[in-house]
Amino acid sequence: MATEQVVDPAAGERDAYAGVLRFYELAKKQEWQVRDLPWSDLPPIPEGKGSPQRRARRSDMWRSVLTQQLQADMLACEMSSQLLNVAPDPEAKLYYSTMVQDESRHTEAWLKLINEVGGIAERDPYLDDLAHMTLEADTLEEKVFQMQVFYERLIISRFRLIARASRGTVLEELCNRLATDDGIHHGAGMAYERVLLQDAGRKMQQTLVNAANRLLPIFVQHALWRPKARAVIGRLMYERDVQRLHEDLEEGVKLAQSLGLDVSGVELPKL
Ligand SMILES: [Fe+2]
Ligand SMILES: [Fe+2]
Repeated sequence: MATEQVVDPAAGERDAYAGVLRFYELAKKQEWQVRDLPWSDLPPIPEGKGSPQRRARRSDMWRSVLTQQLQADMLACEMSSQLLNVAPDPEAKLYYSTMVQDESRHTEAWLKLINEVGGIAERDPYLDDLAHMTLEADTLEEKVFQMQVFYERLIISRFRLIARASRGTVLEELCNRLATDDGIHHGAGMAYERVLLQDAGRKMQQTLVNAANRLLPIFVQHALWRPKARAVIGRLMYERDVQRLHEDLEEGVKLAQSLGLDVSGVELPKL
């Protein structure tokens, strides 16, 4: 790939891609390595107190949190490598080459962390369904919107929550780094989607709305799903979860509007 030509485009050409290239430069600057995490200085996850049974329950709960994040990052590897393959624009390809590396590194870090605390737990079946809908979407506009504009924006607040609940651990440090990385992934996706939608007609608008209406009911199931290890907490947290889900759906609508999309046809699921 002719890097020089892409990074330094002829004057007046492809100005629309300047935003995507800015995120490419930022992504390279922010790159880190799994070995940079404080593996030998901090406990992997919160150690917990109380009886052995209580501690075992807490540790199962954390393993299930870690498993969901590992699952999400494994799916993100598939989605980002698909974006690298299908995006026709060289600027976007440069950017996606960094995102593939990020998602691979995230997966490596979760795997290492999970191995230190007893291995993988139960998968969220709805998360697999959501990822497959995005992987099988017909248009690049749908893929970028779902993956980068919607999911990678929502995940940032999840990382902040997990970090707050796991002070002084490798997990906290990992979540902080992932919040930064996904901030870049989201920003790059917004910049690219804006270019893709520049000349979007009614047909593309309708395609995106239809995709959202197929996806949202499954997103609700994913958001409210709890593995057995967190079933009790899940019941206690139900109201908070529903409230957070409302906020997430509203955020998605706002993001779509900020990209100039007509969201009047989006049917928000009843909660
Ligand atoms: Fe990731
Ligand atoms: Fe990401």
